[in-house]
Amino acid sequence: MAEGAGKPRILKGRHLLGVAELSIDEITALLDLAEEYASLARRRDRKLNTLRGHTHINLFFEPSTRTQSSFELAGKRLGADVMNMSVKTSSVTKGETLLDTAQTLNAMRPDLLVIRHQHSGAAELLAQKMSCAVINAGDGWHEHPTQALLDALTIRRHRGKLENVTVTICGDIRHSRVARSNILLLTRMGARVRIVGPGPLLPPNAERLGVEVYHRMEPALEGADVVMMLRLQKERMDGAYIPSEREYYRFWGLNEERLKLAKENAIVMHPGPMNRGLEIDSSIADGPRSVIREQVEMGVAVRMAVLDALARNLETEAAA
Ligand code: NCD
Repeated sequence: MAEGAGKPRILKGRHLLGVAELSIDEITALLDLAEEYASLARRRDRKLNTLRGHTHINLFFEPSTRTQSSFELAGKRLGADVMNMSVKTSSVTKGETLLDTAQTLNAMRPDLLVIRHQHSGAAELLAQKMSCAVINAGDGWHEHPTQALLDALTIRRHRGKLENVTVTICGDIRHSRVARSNILLLTRMGARVRIVGPGPLLPPNAERLGVEVYHRMEPALEGADVVMMLRLQKERMDGAYIPSEREYYRFWGLNEERLKLAKENAIVMHPGPMNRGLEIDSSIADGPRSVIREQVEMGVAVRMAVLDALARNLETEAAA
């Protein structure tokens, strides 16, 4: 039996499909558990048996560096058997549908399935068809819950809390599942969220999301505790959303001068991958205010917490 049995339940649901379904208590409990895993990761002896005997599959239909590798590492540190399905060399390239792939994988009896897919709703569809716990690692423009959790953990470590912290999210908000999940999580936890970017890259009816909408960088950055830059997602732009990359940098790029408008101890975040010299200057990405590498570190800790929490629920179900 896994070590997880008998530990307190953290998540009510069987899957983690989005931040939208998480309560304040669930978010807080996940962040607290991730904090414990973050300290553990800094020790030499950091391999646990929590997920021994569990099979964890990563199924990524879109390219990924950070997310896939950190899920893999998280599963391995918890002692699970981790398999990375390489979509490029799988039958998907022969036209197999997502549901056929799901059925094949289901027959292998995994316990945890992590999916990234270009279509919004793909994770939810899979959750309906699979017998295991499904974790959304990014679906289209929709959600990327573990990214928002790792961002929240990073902010909480620097500010001690999320409530009343002013977070400015800049750039391509419209195409960003990272922005969407962050807005949901941060507003739920009582942070003040501002969004700023060129009009065509802001979501329609943005005010309804509970954020303050800005149309210029300077006022949006004024007094911010956290500046979160987003990648300009060229692959998701079918039309001409921006006049040119040079113009984009001139109006929306984060440089030293603009960063001075934020609080003196403001932190700068970016989920990666970065377009250096487009949305962010290299001097800032590598500078003293940047917590971009810490975000990656917290990514492993948060994913360990999510895998652990969902495995606990599987244990409880099996025992019932
Ligand atoms: C993001 C993603 O894939 O949604 N990256 C990530 O997970 N770290 C953001 C992006 O692609 O720009």
